[in-house]
Amino acid sequence: MALKITVIGTGYLGATHAAAMAELGFEVLALDVVREKIEMLERGETPMYEPGLEELLRRHVAGFEGSSGRLRFTQDWAEVGAFGDVHFVCVNTPQKHGEYACDMSYVESALASLAPHLARPALVVGKSTVPVGSADRLARMIAELAPAGEDAELAWNPEFLREGFAVQDTLHPDRIVVGVRSERAEALLRQVYETPVGEGTPFVVTDFPTAELVKTSANSFLATKISFINAMAEVCEAADGDVAKLAEAIGYDDRIGKKFLRAGIGFGGGCLPKDIRAFMARAGELGADQALTFLREIDSINMRQRGRMVELARQALGGGSFLGRRIAVLGATFKPDSDDVRDSPALNVAGQIHLQGGQVTVYDPKGMENARRLFPTLGYAPSALEAVRGADAVLHLTEWREFRELDPAALGEVATTRLILDGRNALDPELWRKAGWTYRGMGRPTA
Ligand code: UDX
Repeated sequence: MALKITVIGTGYLGATHAAAMAELGFEVLALDVVREKIEMLERGETPMYEPGLEELLRRHVAGFEGSSGRLRFTQDWAEVGAFGDVHFVCVNTPQKHGEYACDMSYVESALASLAPHLARPALVVGKSTVPVGSADRLARMIAELAPAGEDAELAWNPEFLREGFAVQDTLHPDRIVVGVRSERAEALLRQVYETPVGEGTPFVVTDFPTAELVKTSANSFLATKISFINAMAEVCEAADGDVAKLAEAIGYDDRIGKKFLRAGIGFGGGCLPKDIRAFMARAGELGADQALTFLREIDSINMRQRGRMVELARQALGGGSFLGRRIAVLGATFKPDSDDVRDSPALNVAGQIHLQGGQVTVYDPKGMENARRLFPTLGYAPSALEAVRGADAVLHLTEWREFRELDPAALGEVATTRLILDGRNALDPELWRKAGWTYRGMGRPTA
């Protein structure tokens, strides 16, 4: 008989996972403690912008004409416990306020609510990013609370999806990693992921700590690549070299690879910054803090890029104060194809310039509402053209395709000064220079 799946937590990860499981043919019941989230999803809407996700939801949420009806929602833990053979825990693990460590309270409370309803054989599968050692502790919690006893088990199956590619990454992942303690758990997960594995996705079976560590070490490696290239950008600037050429040239070496070597204002979002900090905190608890001291440097190189962008703008404007200068900011989200502004380098730079007296006007294709909520004192414009109107400098801070397709000549007509600072090294310098703009990238020669 086909497995029945539940998904606990319908944020970014959970909503995508639930829809993807329905797409793979399973009956899915998803739970969230926030009623409004459930109501939105039942209407086929998502609380965040993610390409393709609403379409996928509407294909499966019960109640839509032509939908498979395989995806339903609830707030009833007893219903979840009775329904599922496999329960995916997809709640978030944010950074603790004022600390590096990760806040496990959502995961713990989800398991405390679910476990007493596990009265029949079931596999609980953690997908959230957690400090190593958590799965072991959570397994003991299930053993204590589940009426099914040993028939209720835990497995750990980290998720590697990227915002903007969540649907694709979930349906066609690079790899599936499972930490298991029994053959039964492995067999159940092989059944869940039969389709992607059948299409050639590697299926890596390991223990709990390794599965937990795969996620945090993968994110640490990605963060390291970005900060490495940003460090090279600083050296290039000092030596009048070109970091974009340097990245291209080192990237031809397969061992290094081309991806994640775009210098600029650095990484942000809800994952990389908090994951490397939580990893350092956990290593400290384990007595292995020396092994990860380099991550402190990765973090500080990353944060430094934001300040360097502000300085680049100040210097390009002739030095001195931003007071009375009009600055157009293109981009507010932490990356393109997302409306997520959590720890956004773009908004951080915009905020710093605003605090230093600059008159900042922001435009972003999808992140305006979230940006306004977080930074209500910044100025906002309904289009790139309107943001640039009257500007003394234009800062390109999130590399949306829309910005690459802008017509520099048309923008030049409305800007006060044709000065473009590319904080993502994603625009074509020649194109802008031909239209009479002074173009400055990060770690790139001035002309
Ligand atoms: C990341 C991981 O990629 C993903 O596997 C994990 O599951 C969650 O964390 P995400 O947060 O969606 O995904 O963003 P990602 O695409 O990794 O980009 C992170 C940040 O790095 C963005 O702010 C992006 O602009 C920046 N970045 C990325 C660079 O500055 N340079 C690059 O070359 C690549």
